[in-house]
Order: sequence, then C-alpha cells, then structure tokens
Amino acid sequence: MSIPIIRTYKDSNDLKRMQKLTQAIWSLEPNYHIGDLAWQRYRHAGREDDWDTAIWEMDGNPVAWGWIQKPGELICQVNPDFPVVAKDVIDWFDKITKTNEQKVNVLETESHLISALEDFLFNPLAENPEILTKISLDSCSFPVKLPDKFKGRHIKGFEDITNRVAVHKAAFHKSRVTEESYLNVMNTYPYDSSLDWIIESPNGEFVASCLIWFDEVNKVGLLEPVGTDARFRRMGLASSVCKLALNALSEKGAKTAVVVCTSPDAFELYKSIGFEKFAQTKSFHRLKNTK
Ligand SMILES: CC(C)(COP(=O)(O)OP(=O)(O)OC[C@H]1O[C@@H](n2cnc3c(N)ncnc32)[C@H](O)[C@@H]1OP(=O)(O)O)[C@@H](O)C(=O)NCCC(=O)NCCS
Repeated sequence: MSIPIIRTYKDSNDLKRMQKLTQAIWSLEPNYHIGDLAWQRYRHAGREDDWDTAIWEMDGNPVAWGWIQKPGELICQVNPDFPVVAKDVIDWFDKITKTNEQKVNVLETESHLISALEDFLFNPLAENPEILTKISLDSCSFPVKLPDKFKGRHIKGFEDITNRVAVHKAAFHKSRVTEESYLNVMNTYPYDSSLDWIIESPNGEFVASCLIWFDEVNKVGLLEPVGTDARFRRMGLASSVCKLALNALSEKGAKTAVVVCTSPDAFELYKSIGFEKFAQTKSFHRLKNTK
C-alpha cells in the first residue's frame, strides 16, 4: 500500500479535492455532502485565518481530509477503506492544536474514526447530537399551498443577491453572511440558482428561503440552509419553500434529499415534510494536559 501524502489546503482546487472524496464515499452515508463543504467554506468571507485544513492523498486520490476550526475543533472525513489514515488525521490535529480542549465531531456510525479517537484517549461528550434525515423523492411532487398573495420562485441570479442575503439574515439571528460571501457561495460548485428558492410576501419582500445543493453523481440533494424571517413563522412558509425546492430537485433527477437538523424546531419542520432520521452525530473531546 502506498504511503498517504499530506497536502495543506491552499485554494479552491483543494476544496474540489475534498469534495471528490466526499462524493466518492457518499453511498456509505457519511457525515458530509459536497454542498456542506461549499457552504461551510464560503458562507462567511475572510475566515481563512480561523482554519487549518489538510488533505491526504494516495496515488493522486484523496483518502481523507481534516478541517480544524481554531482554536480546537475538528471535522474530517476518512475513506473507511483506509482506516489507518484516521490516525494520521487525529495526529495532525493533535500536533497543531494550540488550545487545551480538543473536540471532534463524527457520525456515531463512523467506527473507523471513533476507534482512532479512542486510541488517542478522546472521550464521548454528553451533548445533543445533530440528527441527519433523508427523504425519498420517488413519489414527488409535493403539493404546495401558499397564503393568499404570497409567491414562490427560485432566485434569478446576482440581481436577487441583496434580498437573498436579507432573508437569510432575517431568519438566522446575527448571521455573518454578506453579499460578498453569498457571491462566493454562488460561484462555488455545485451551487445552482434554480435550486435556490424563496417566498415573496405580497409586497415583494423575501420572507423564507431554501437552498438545495445537488450531487448529480449520487443523485442526492442537501438542504442547507433553510429559514423563515422571524416575523412570518408558523405560516407554512418554510415547509412550502422546501417543497418547491424539492420539486425542482426531483425534476433534475435526484432520488433522495438529506438535511441535518441542528435544533428540535428544525427536526419538527423536516419531519412534517416526510424526512426520516438515518443517523446522528457524536462528539468527542480531550483535555490536552490530561492525556
Ligand atoms: C425552523 C424554521 C425554518 C421554521 O420555519 P416556519 O416557516 O415557521 O415553519 P412552517 O410554518 O413551515 O412549519 C411547518 C411545520 O414544521 C413544524 N414546526 C415549524 N416550526 C416549529 C417550531 N418552532 N416548533 C415545533 N414545530 C415546528 C410544525 O409541524 C409546523 O406545522 P404547524 O405550524 O402546522 O404545526 C424557522 O423557525 C427558522 O427560520 N428558524 C431559524 C433558522 C433555522 O433553524 N433553520 C433550520 C435549520 S437550517
């Protein structure tokens, strides 16, 4: 077996390398979708100094990536066919983390990552997991009924960017998304404005939104993010905008959609549409000076 080569993240070509691995191991239901990587990398501008990122390659192909959010939080993916590389990733994380507490988020089914963490004396953290849910699109389309004079559509492109950012910020309190960062998102594979849906109020204001990222290879879409302006909640708008975007996704040939639920409200929303749980996250931590 070749020795894995580690390369430090430099530019958007490295994001593509990370996405290549994420796409290649998708059928194993891993923690990340190519859209997660695009959204997390570009939703905020000027975050590069907050991160350390590395990719492990064998024979020119990515087998693992690690992404440290400073001071000490790691997310990663390791191809389960090369479990030994998981130790290299944790070792890299260990060596370059400067803070006392180190935290790693994995899926509870990623046994190759969990056993590497246990080898490095990480302990499970008692905190609420994120719930991963999915829905089959075989029986689409979803019927959608909006309140009187509200309209749903996908965004047309850059001309909608100001309103698109405004609706995101109206849903996500204190969001750092800006027009500059959203432009970066729109320029990142696999962003597709025909899967970026909004609801307009009767006066033309954007009041709910749902962005879907489509992995054409695996025929799976990821909803990220979804939100409703706090003044317009519990009117069925998030449900409607998701269904409109899911119908568009289905027309493009997707067979499945997935979404990560980070709160009980979000879980209730996606459950009401028909999403079902298929996995959940598990966090581990370690205090460096007690290892
Ligand atoms: C979660 C969120 C998107 C829901 O938006 P919304 O437009 O109010 O949702 P809807 O009106 O379409 O709700 C549809 C169904 O979802 C469920 N639901 C939605 N919000 C809920 C809540 N706060 N508590 C419990 N159930 C909820 C209900 O079943 C609801 O149907 P009902 O109103 O007939 O009971 C909104 O609260 C929000 O933007 N939150 C902040 C951002 C966020 O967390 N986004 C999701 C993660 S990406």
